[in-house]
Amino acid sequence: MTPPGFALQQLTDTDASVETPAFADLLIDAVAAGASVGYLPPLAPAEALAYWRSVQAARAAGERLVWAAWSGADLAGSVQLDLVQRPNGWHRAEVMKLLVHRRFRRRGLGRALMLAAEAAARALGRTTLVLDTLLGEPSEQLYAGLGWQKAGVIPQYARVADGSLQPTVVYYKLL
Ligand SMILES: CC(C)(COP(=O)(O)OP(=O)(O)OC[C@H]1O[C@@H](n2cnc3c(N)ncnc32)[C@H](O)[C@@H]1OP(=O)(O)O)[C@@H](O)C(=O)NCCC(=O)NCCS
Repeated sequence: MTPPGFALQQLTDTDASVETPAFADLLIDAVAAGASVGYLPPLAPAEALAYWRSVQAARAAGERLVWAAWSGADLAGSVQLDLVQRPNGWHRAEVMKLLVHRRFRRRGLGRALMLAAEAAARALGRTTLVLDTLLGEPSEQLYAGLGWQKAGVIPQYARVADGSLQPTVVYYKLL
């Protein structure tokens, strides 16, 4: 269920690009708050926009689904589903870049975005879902609460802001 005051939107082929300052700000905010989402702080707007340009290209190729959560005109969150293209993985997808802006956290948006992505995956026959997240992040509680299973921990996976290498946890969910 979408939390009151928010609107969830699955971007369609014809929807506007995600290569916009609002999407860039969402990623910059998460990185600034210490999230391990591929980048180290400070993340420059141009680098964030370049990331969303790559997402836009994946969308255009039909390989990526993107959701946006809105609070009025403000982008409050987003999540992506990467559809595996290789023939042995047509039943598989990876949940990527679950992001909720700090201004809008702990209101159920992360959970709602995950449920939207899972529902779309199920409808597409993408019944094996995977994701990874830094060990000990709050997102672990979110995933566990939604029935995701912990496959294992990979040590020294991601560099974080203080320069150290931190472990990541791989999760899966069979729909
Ligand atoms: C992880 C993230 C998406 C959660 O978004 P959110 O909208 O705040 O999450 P929700 O409000 O839906 O929380 C759902 C549940 O997750 C858990 N949770 C979420 N944030 C938490 C926190 N800071 N501390 C403890 N538990 C937390 C709780 O169990 C929560 O349920 P509750 O509020 O009823 O206790 C958000 O913190 C975020 O964008 N983090 C940075 C990016 C990131 O780490 N993404 C995931 C890995 S790619």
